[in-house]
Amino acid sequence: MADESSRMIEPVILLGPPGAGKGTQAKRIAQRYNIPQISTGDILRQNVKAGTPLGRAAKEVMERGQLVPDELVCPMVADRIRDVDCQRGFILDGFPRTAAQAGWLDAYLENEFFDNSHGCNRLPIVIRLEVDYNELLRRLTGRRSCPTCGRIYNVHLQPPKVDECCDIDGSKLVIRDDDREEVILERLREFDSQTRPVAEYYQAKGRLKTVNGDLPPDEVTGQIFWIIDNHGDNHG
Ligand code: AP5
Repeated sequence: MADESSRMIEPVILLGPPGAGKGTQAKRIAQRYNIPQISTGDILRQNVKAGTPLGRAAKEVMERGQLVPDELVCPMVADRIRDVDCQRGFILDGFPRTAAQAGWLDAYLENEFFDNSHGCNRLPIVIRLEVDYNELLRRLTGRRSCPTCGRIYNVHLQPPKVDECCDIDGSKLVIRDDDREEVILERLREFDSQTRPVAEYYQAKGRLKTVNGDLPPDEVTGQIFWIIDNHGDNHG
């Protein structure tokens, strides 16, 4: 098999509700295949923090747990995947999140991205993480993250070695603004109404792979690596 950290990889799309483990798994995929994790949530949060026009437009919507309009998110993704570090492949974490975003992405990849010699034309690998509703609540209320390196912890399930401190760099862990219970419930409602149709969109095209995200993180990772390693037979 070709070296996983240097071969061409089809774009990887991680679908799943808030708390499904998209960010956790995206970081592991990024490390193994040496491709960037593109988290639309992280990019939006950075814009909010920096007070950019995009961040100002997104702030209140995000605080309510609702989705930022497609017309703001799609150009943001287009900008990011044009960067040179995406030429060998990239992971989309949190995108697409509406049927309109999924349709836009297919058209963009086919007509502009791959057409402009970003590697060969390959359909994305779409992986859905399925997790029980009560488990999602437990994960989101216990989540902590490192503001320095981005590593994700969970006070119930994956605690750091020292309370509230990052194992890697010792930074004090933080709670995300939208991990308050009433906002979590709204994010889960948004997922049901807006993002479930995205899985149906890919299912109808025969491109959806589902992984049991209730399993421990290492087992979920093993299944995801298997799907990526066995996707198609041309490893470039
Ligand atoms: P975003 O940042 O994308 O958040 P999300 O989709 O709500 O997902 P999360 O980051 O909460 O969960 P995750 O699946 O990454 O789980 P994690 O790995 O952290 O979006 C935030 C907001 O931005 C949206 O509400 C919206 O406003 C806006 N936005 C973003 N993208 C948009 C788009 N495309 N269009 C419009 N608006 C957009 O894990 C969760 C916890 O569980 C952690 O504590 C972790 O340690 C633990 N855990 C993970 N896996 C396991 C496991 N297998 N077993 C046990 N514990 C586990």
